Amino acid sequence: MEYKRSILITGGAGFIGSHVVRRFVKAYPEYRIINLDKLTYAGNLDNLRDIEKAPNYRFFKADICDFETVYDLMRQERVDGVIHLAAESHVDRSIKDPFTFARTNVLGTLSLLQAARLCWEERKYEGCFFYHISTDEVYGALEMTRPEGDKDGRGPYGDLLFREDTAYHPHSPYSASKASSDHFVRAFHDTYGMPTVVTNCSNNYGPYQFPEKLIPLFINNIRNRKPLPVYGKGENVRDWLYVEDHAAAIDLIFHQGAAGETYNIGGFNEWKNIDLIRLMIATVDRLLGRPEGADLDLITFVTDRAGHDLRYAIDPSKLRDTLGWKPSVTFEQGLERTVRWYLDNKAWLDAVTSGAYAGYYEEMYGNR
Ligand code: NAD
Ligand code: TYD
Repeated sequence: MEYKRSILITGGAGFIGSHVVRRFVKAYPEYRIINLDKLTYAGNLDNLRDIEKAPNYRFFKADICDFETVYDLMRQERVDGVIHLAAESHVDRSIKDPFTFARTNVLGTLSLLQAARLCWEERKYEGCFFYHISTDEVYGALEMTRPEGDKDGRGPYGDLLFREDTAYHPHSPYSASKASSDHFVRAFHDTYGMPTVVTNCSNNYGPYQFPEKLIPLFINNIRNRKPLPVYGKGENVRDWLYVEDHAAAIDLIFHQGAAGETYNIGGFNEWKNIDLIRLMIATVDRLLGRPEGADLDLITFVTDRAGHDLRYAIDPSKLRDTLGWKPSVTFEQGLERTVRWYLDNKAWLDAVTSGAYAGYYEEMYGNR
């Protein structure tokens, strides 16, 4: 079959990438979707079982740092659009091993950009729209000027939000590597005129997230009645977005975003960690039929993360006002859906928490 477009999605076996791949494979049978992923500890083809046999889908195992392989694939497949999600994504790992983050996130992005640029030039400057997925963590941390929140004790917890023109001020090795990759993408636009777009999104949650990040880690621990390691006092604030709403924004921006632009993605949904953790405990306990408050004693305050950013909060009004995007679920709906998914997918959770990951957990948190 002659496909209308050939789109390369990197990191498609990971958390957000798997939702993006699934969405594109199903919504655009006229597109060929190529998922390129190295399958690190975070990449898992089980995340895509339901679409792996679709005729318009192809998986290709490779490292984005391997320029020749990536370039050959892009030429062979006549790729005319790239959605780049492949990355090392966990802050705690970046504190232990920053080199891997510089390699994949910076050099890997550069290798992909260079391959896309060569293809674009060979095709007389047609296609090869390069969409780079990034994080709000590049902007650094915001202050808490309203620590009590609004009248219901919810966010916003400060007067400032991250906007597209907020200066970059990354603190962790993870955010520093993502900031660097964002700059390379913009440099390719400004230097070569390549059509690129960058989006910076807030914290995602939902099905298929590797249980080292707060929400799936804690759901799994509550399920197993294991301690919940809360960094510091649990006062840090994160702005949470349901992963399918992020995937919907990516779809919209890939098709309608303007070259050279940056869009922030978020749902005005700030939560203090400790409030979110109490809500997770209440939700898991209710769905498992445990008495109210039964697992509150799992909360264990531990040494704070080094350089722990106090508050992230996105102003997504540019995306809302220019392209009409808004989230489709409230946080309560999204969290309930997420908790149910992890409780219903015990086999997936058990598989990804065995082996290498089990060793990592003990190394990070001891045998708690
Ligand atoms: P993830 O860790 O779940 O998945 C990353 C994927 O990239 C995995 O499938 C992994 O195998 C693959 N990968 C890693 N190194 C690779 C390499 N060298 N070559 C090829 N593939 C490689 O990450 P995620 O949470 O889905 O995040 C995806 C993207 O979105 C990242 O770029 C991240 O910075 C960004 N982001 C994440 C969040 C979030 O809350 N998770 C928020 C905003 C932006
Ligand atoms: P995380 O999911 O790692 O995302 P990020 O650091 O990229 O925002 O962490 C979310 C918040 O939860 C962050 O403030 C750190 C905190 N946290 C804990 O308190 N305990 C944990 O075990 C983890 C993983 C995170």
